[in-house]
Amino acid sequence: MKHCLSLKDFTPGEVTGLLDNALRLKKNPSLGRGLMAGRWLFMLFQKTSTRTRLSFEVGAGQLGGHSVVMDWDSSNFAISPIRYEARYVSSHASIIMARLKKHSDLTQLAEHSRVPVINGCDDMFHPCQALADLLTVYETAGSLKGQTVCYVGIHNNVANSLALGCQRTGVKLILVTPEGNQPAHDPRMLEEWEAQGVVERTLDLKEAVLRADFVYTDTWVDMEFFRDPAFKAEKERRINLMLPYQLNEKNLAGSQAYILHDMPIHPGFEISESMVESPRSLIYQQAENRLYVQQALMLHLLDIPLP
Ligand code: CP
Repeated sequence: MKHCLSLKDFTPGEVTGLLDNALRLKKNPSLGRGLMAGRWLFMLFQKTSTRTRLSFEVGAGQLGGHSVVMDWDSSNFAISPIRYEARYVSSHASIIMARLKKHSDLTQLAEHSRVPVINGCDDMFHPCQALADLLTVYETAGSLKGQTVCYVGIHNNVANSLALGCQRTGVKLILVTPEGNQPAHDPRMLEEWEAQGVVERTLDLKEAVLRADFVYTDTWVDMEFFRDPAFKAEKERRINLMLPYQLNEKNLAGSQAYILHDMPIHPGFEISESMVESPRSLIYQQAENRLYVQQALMLHLLDIPLP
C-alpha cells in the first residue's frame, strides 16, 4: 500500500504519470466516471481550508466516490491517540486525506491506517499543491524540462514540495526566500538541493524574475497563525521584512513571467492586486488544477487504472 505524505513517495516517472493522467481527466472528465464507485474518501482537517476541502470532495464525487469530512477538534482525534482513531477510521474509509498541523502526526496516521493516506498540507509539505503547480506549468509551457520557476517568499511547506516536484520533473527552481518557517526551513536540505543543482538561492529578486518563466508566491504567515494574537508581533516583523519582496509591477518590471499563487491571497502583502488580476496571472487555473491532480492521485493510490 502506498501513501502520499510528500513527493518523496513518488519516482519521477510516477509524478509525470500523475500529471499526464490529471491532464487527461481535465480534458475529458468522462474518462473518470464511476471509477471510485463504492469508495469512501475520509477527510480530516486540523486547519482551515477552502480549496483542499472543496476540490477533494468534488473530485471524489465526479469519480463516483463518496466523502466524509471531519474537523479534528469536533472529532475524537482531539482526545485520543492517533493510532487508535486511524485504525478505526480506516476500517470504513477507502482512502484518507488529512490536513494536520504536524508532519509527525501525519506519519503516525499513515503508520496505523489500513488505507492510503494523502497529505493535505502540514508543517513540512503540501504535495497536492505542488502537483497542481506543476500541472499548471506543464499545460501552459507544453513541457516541464527547461522551465524556470522563481519562488518568492518565506521558505515553507509549499516551497519544500515545489522543490521536490521540480527535482522530479526537471524544472529549475530559483528560491528568493529571505527566511523560513520551522520546521520546513531545513538548511541542510536546501544545501543538498543546491548541490544537486535542483535549486538556486538568491535574494536578488529583480534579477531572478527576469530569468523566470513563472514567478510564484505564497502567504508570509501560515494559516494556523494568521489570526493568532500570540503571532501578532512576529506577523508585523515579517511584513516589514518581506514587503520589499512583494510581487508587484515594480519588482517584476521587464519580466514576462506568468504569475502563480497557491491561494488564499493576501493582497497588498505577498502580492499586489494588479498582479493577481494581471493577464499573466494563472492563479485561478492553478487552483482549479488541484481537482484534477488529486483525482489522478486518488486513483493511483487506490490502484485504479485510468482507461
Ligand atoms: N492552497 C490551498 O491549500 O488552499 P486551501 O488552504 O484553501 O485548502
